[in-house]
Amino acid sequence: MTPLDASLSGTFAIGGDMPVARLGFGAMRITGEGIWGPPPNREGALATLRKLPEFGVDFIDTANSYGPYVSEELIREALYPYGRVRIATKAGLTRLGPGRWDTKGDPDYLLRQAHASRDRLGVERIDLWQLHRIDPAVPRSEQFAAIRTLIDTGVIKHGGLSEVTIDEIEAAQRYFPVATVQNRYNLADRTSEAVLDYCEANAIGFVPWYPLGSGKLAEPGTILDRVAAAHGASPGQIAIAWLLKKSPVILPIPGTGKVSHLEENVRAASIRLTDEEFEALDVAGRG
Ligand SMILES: NC(=O)c1ccc[n+]([C@@H]2O[C@H](COP(=O)([O-])OP(=O)(O)OC[C@H]3O[C@@H](n4cnc5c(N)ncnc54)[C@H](OP(=O)(O)O)[C@@H]3O)[C@@H](O)[C@H]2O)c1
Repeated sequence: MTPLDASLSGTFAIGGDMPVARLGFGAMRITGEGIWGPPPNREGALATLRKLPEFGVDFIDTANSYGPYVSEELIREALYPYGRVRIATKAGLTRLGPGRWDTKGDPDYLLRQAHASRDRLGVERIDLWQLHRIDPAVPRSEQFAAIRTLIDTGVIKHGGLSEVTIDEIEAAQRYFPVATVQNRYNLADRTSEAVLDYCEANAIGFVPWYPLGSGKLAEPGTILDRVAAAHGASPGQIAIAWLLKKSPVILPIPGTGKVSHLEENVRAASIRLTDEEFEALDVAGRG
């Protein structure tokens, strides 16, 4: 059986000085329905988090809005004082109920939320703090300047962005060094391909959310199915392996509240696709 060691996915140094295993963990799924409230299986969620260091996962993505607060609180309960595990959180969205997300990017609010995440996580400085969305109702320069302030005051080590264009990354770079970009991207959703290329050219970590997505390729009899069978793997594992081979700046963060699913996802770190398999999947995914 393939080993359970996320470090086999290789390393990426966030911001040039914070090395992590490229295969990370997304902590959005350890909350309730609609990413609201506590998870249905709290003990299962805590057990999943506690397995991360043992499996070599040392990069966790969360946000103050997951729950809200539930995900950050469970991470602290399970893993504090964290050791070598790096926590990346976000703010910039407010929650009024299950499945409801609204942007809120006025700089005072962003600063307050970053301080609150720091307290909730119990750290002196947040390893990576990402603007969850640029709020269109607030000048983006003010939101980027808030991130600069958070770095300068030592509240956060590195700053990142989520769901952004190349133009927005370049505008932000005038205020702070953009360490990571988190956009939706997977085998079957290549909308952010140009953003990925930009990140690779500029040594910016690219964190694809919804990494297990494979669209129509999830149906039986597809190339994804055939490659999975050839490796004795699941289609989800091949989707992760494809991301890892796609670019050295990609940091996939598959999320789950189940230890068995975490194990399956981590085992993908050691799956090596051939160039032919990679190309065939690449073409099919562009659909
Ligand atoms: N920046 C943003 O705007 C944004 C938006 C969305 C998400 N994110 C981040 O990205 C992370 C990943 O995104 P995502 O949760 O949308 O997508 P994902 O990780 O690709 O998929 C998660 C879903 O797949 C299931 N799953 C996970 N492993 C599985 C396995 N081995 N077998 C079967 N099912 C499995 C999970 O359910 P179970 O719990 O049942 O395993 C969950 O329903 C999130 O945790 C969050 O940190 C960021």
